[in-house]
Amino acid sequence: MKQEGNETARRGIARLVGQLAGRNPFDGDSKPSRVRLFQPGAGRPAVPFPHPWNYTRPLEILETFFWQAERLEGPASNNRYLDIPGRAPILVSRDPGIIRAILHATGDGPGKFDRDTLPSAGIARATGEDTLLYANGPLWKVHRKLAAPSFNKSKLFQPERFQEFEETFRHTIRLRLDALRVYLEESGEASIQVALESEIKVVMLEMLANNFFGAEIPYEDIRDRFTPSLQRVIDHIVRDTVLNRLGIPLERMPNLSRKIARIKADFANFEELTDRVLAPRAEERGLWKQFKSDAPDEKLRSNIRVFLAGALEATTSFATWAIAHLARHPDIQERVFQDVKEVDTYTPDNLNQSKELNRVLEETLRLTPSLYFLPRKATADTWVVTTDERKMFIPGGTHILLDIWHANRLEAHWGVEQSGYPASAFAPDRWAVLADRGVDPKGFLHFGFGHGPRVCPGKFLGQLEVGLVVGAIVKTFRFSAVHADSPAKAGVSTKPVDGALVNLELRSQS
Ligand code: HEM
Repeated sequence: MKQEGNETARRGIARLVGQLAGRNPFDGDSKPSRVRLFQPGAGRPAVPFPHPWNYTRPLEILETFFWQAERLEGPASNNRYLDIPGRAPILVSRDPGIIRAILHATGDGPGKFDRDTLPSAGIARATGEDTLLYANGPLWKVHRKLAAPSFNKSKLFQPERFQEFEETFRHTIRLRLDALRVYLEESGEASIQVALESEIKVVMLEMLANNFFGAEIPYEDIRDRFTPSLQRVIDHIVRDTVLNRLGIPLERMPNLSRKIARIKADFANFEELTDRVLAPRAEERGLWKQFKSDAPDEKLRSNIRVFLAGALEATTSFATWAIAHLARHPDIQERVFQDVKEVDTYTPDNLNQSKELNRVLEETLRLTPSLYFLPRKATADTWVVTTDERKMFIPGGTHILLDIWHANRLEAHWGVEQSGYPASAFAPDRWAVLADRGVDPKGFLHFGFGHGPRVCPGKFLGQLEVGLVVGAIVKTFRFSAVHADSPAKAGVSTKPVDGALVNLELRSQS
């Protein structure tokens, strides 16, 4: 025991000496290159860590890590590290091979990577720590085994069950789009200007709460109370992660301002929403039919909060981006329309056959991934090996940010030479080019749903919801972007900064 303590102290001192000497703690042929904490005059977009003045611009913080990195050669240009004496190193990778290797080596075995809990401290304070998202090691495995089967493709896409979901989903979307349609008809205008993100968000929460969990919450409550409250809770989570370094729980904060009082009311609404989606469990409505566990409701609350907040955020982001891209590409929008105009039911077969829609969704997640970085932590000194045999040594304790946003825009990996289109362009046809060239799809992962053992368990549900919403919008309306560009804002997920502001016109009128 004493020997172990001595060894830890010796390693700590050696590490500090190495840090002070500026020694690279990583190794291998894919060793990352160093990023300086401060670099006055370099013109970097931010400093390479979040603080109260820049935390609302996380994409710029990631960009800072790769500032002028193209001057470097090979893997050092896509793998960067920050090493502050006395702290664990931070590795940021936009290297698709390294990202894949680390995601693959994440899990509950010895030496496997954890999901780093540091960037989700605010989420855990809002939802509870005992969740599938926050837990690591054996506890994560228990959560995964309990929750993930309910979302399985085989369960969700069983013809009988699928039809039930699909009918209620479709009914929900139709009702909401009809409201917009009626508004357009009654206004007598040929088109209206609308930020579709806010419409999409309400539909997504309604589908999740009422169709998936089998609750019966009136639409007005979802639109006017639960969606705005949940959105403010999600925004609070981002602020809380960076600003609440002391980890003070919200309920202990005095109501010093109207803002604090309001966010407390929002959390109360979040609790009520959790109650209302748990209530159908007793009658085995919605998803609860296939959820087999003796765990009392109380034990499930934290995970339900994660599903509600996480799924709302991710599905809204995904569908909003797809609409934002289609609004800037009328030709592709028309092709999707041709694809879906005859589709009345979204059976698994119909979904598979909607090739244009599927490519648009794939390209949307590549170019504008909802979750723009995936956090990991090395639990021990580890060598990772890529499929093309490159190696990187990562010291135990390293915080890792897998920068999906920038990895998916690497010209060398996704560009003209590989896929026929520039990496920075929205080009769904690149997926046809890649397929025609017979490339191994595993070499072209966009990580939009993650990869490996901690891949998104809600992937099929999410794809279904987003496919239905985007398909139904294209089928009903023709839309064009109000602004030429769609820059991104990022919090828990990314969204187009203008909320997908479009001119909307009814198809049947044109
Ligand atoms: C369609 C939009 C969605 C996108 C783009 C998305 C994306 C992702 C990604 C990238 C991850 C991996 C995170 C990582 O590796 O660190 C993830 C994990 C997760 N997602 Fe999703 N997701 C979506 C929908 C959903 C839905 C509908 C649910 C549940 C109802 C859900 C629940 C989760 C959970 C619980 C995890 C953590 C799993 C684990 O750690 O084992 N997601 N999601």
